Amino acid sequence: MTTAPTRFAPSGPLTGTVSVPGDKSISHRSLMLSALAVGESRITGLLEGEDVLATAAAMRAMGADILRGDDGVWTVHGVGVGGLMQPGQALDMGNSGTSTRLLMGLVASHAITCTFTGDASLSHRPMGRVIEPLSAMGADVSASPGGRLPLMVRGLAPAVPLEYRLPVASAQVKSAVLLAGLNIPGVTRVIEPVATRDHSERMLKGFGADISVETDADGARIISITGEAELKPQTIAVPGDPSSAAFPIVAALIVPGSDVTLTGIGMNPTRAGLIGVLRDMGGDIETLDEREVGGEPVADLRVRHSALSGIDVPPDIAPSMIDEFPVLFVAAAFAKGTTRTSGLDELRVKESDRIAVMAAGLAEIGAQVEEAEDGLTIIGTSGDMLPGSAHPIASSLDHRIAMSFAVAGLHCRDGASVDDMHPVQTSFPTFEPMLRGLAEA
Ligand code: S3P
Repeated sequence: MTTAPTRFAPSGPLTGTVSVPGDKSISHRSLMLSALAVGESRITGLLEGEDVLATAAAMRAMGADILRGDDGVWTVHGVGVGGLMQPGQALDMGNSGTSTRLLMGLVASHAITCTFTGDASLSHRPMGRVIEPLSAMGADVSASPGGRLPLMVRGLAPAVPLEYRLPVASAQVKSAVLLAGLNIPGVTRVIEPVATRDHSERMLKGFGADISVETDADGARIISITGEAELKPQTIAVPGDPSSAAFPIVAALIVPGSDVTLTGIGMNPTRAGLIGVLRDMGGDIETLDEREVGGEPVADLRVRHSALSGIDVPPDIAPSMIDEFPVLFVAAAFAKGTTRTSGLDELRVKESDRIAVMAAGLAEIGAQVEEAEDGLTIIGTSGDMLPGSAHPIASSLDHRIAMSFAVAGLHCRDGASVDDMHPVQTSFPTFEPMLRGLAEA
């Protein structure tokens, strides 16, 4: 496919009230768990982005009946835990690491064989982190060199329960093991020294699985699931994605005169790190109407243009804002003084190497940035515009890089140009119209 660069011009104040699409992590899990329940589940607010549609297609290929109504409500008739069927062809995961790793977990404990393929970005990403525990549970995985896609998982039923201490702070690895455990007799246990997003635990409980979470003396979370589970169909309302909200939040903070309200944003503490960091930098972000939607805390957020100051971001906050660093780097580029980040090795194995790609793009638009192995140090403009660039910035098949430079362009003298906005379709298909709407309001 040929793609033309998109230019984001310097903007006047952003104003208005917007919502963002449904949470990507919760959307994937809604489809997977509904597809494993017996009976009809209904999902409202599902993110209809390419990543989630890849999950829907895969669950259909394994036997679930999944339909989108004209009213935007999704209905799913599941096959029951243990009931996944052999797909007729390879499962194309597109750009989606979450679909791949979680579905590998599901397949691992079913007596089916699945081949997983993906785009160039996904085919570079490490799968060894899930292959290792799933193999210990009895799955037979043949991967491409370096533990990458394309790969084939031959599941085992019954597989063997595992107690697994996560070597990397990864909700995807945790979820892969727990989802495998759903169809394994006995107790599967994941020990998580550093807390990561807990949507799988919350939703498994909501669907009626026998799951418990304890904390040990060292503060590690111990999550135990007992299979073979029977999941009961649910009605799910998916909250707005805080990782998508991050883009209009930072846009409103950096563009003078802005005053933007975002409605229905997920505020799960395992995801809310960015809000705290931006507030520590001086960001005026007001929490309004805190409530609960679908077992998750939700709020509206009013964000006003603010004079930001650089800070040292503590590395232990990284898991609660792991997807938000690209846009935090943009905020830092306009702050007063120096922002230092560290402990971000995981950013190198996301949809792109987000440390290297952000460093290159920020330098391109005239920001002062220094790259270390595990983070960036950025000296900001004290609120002044950056020069910007007419030369297209490489988004490297990474939606969050593309959206970060779109936001940066709003406060650059020459704007910023992004080589390919298509990746944004994976998580935030309405991003460009939303941004234009705020600028024109
Ligand atoms: C996700 C977990 C995170 C995150 C990804 C979605 C999930 O990945 O980066 O966008 O839905 O579980 P890791 O668990 O690999 O950190």
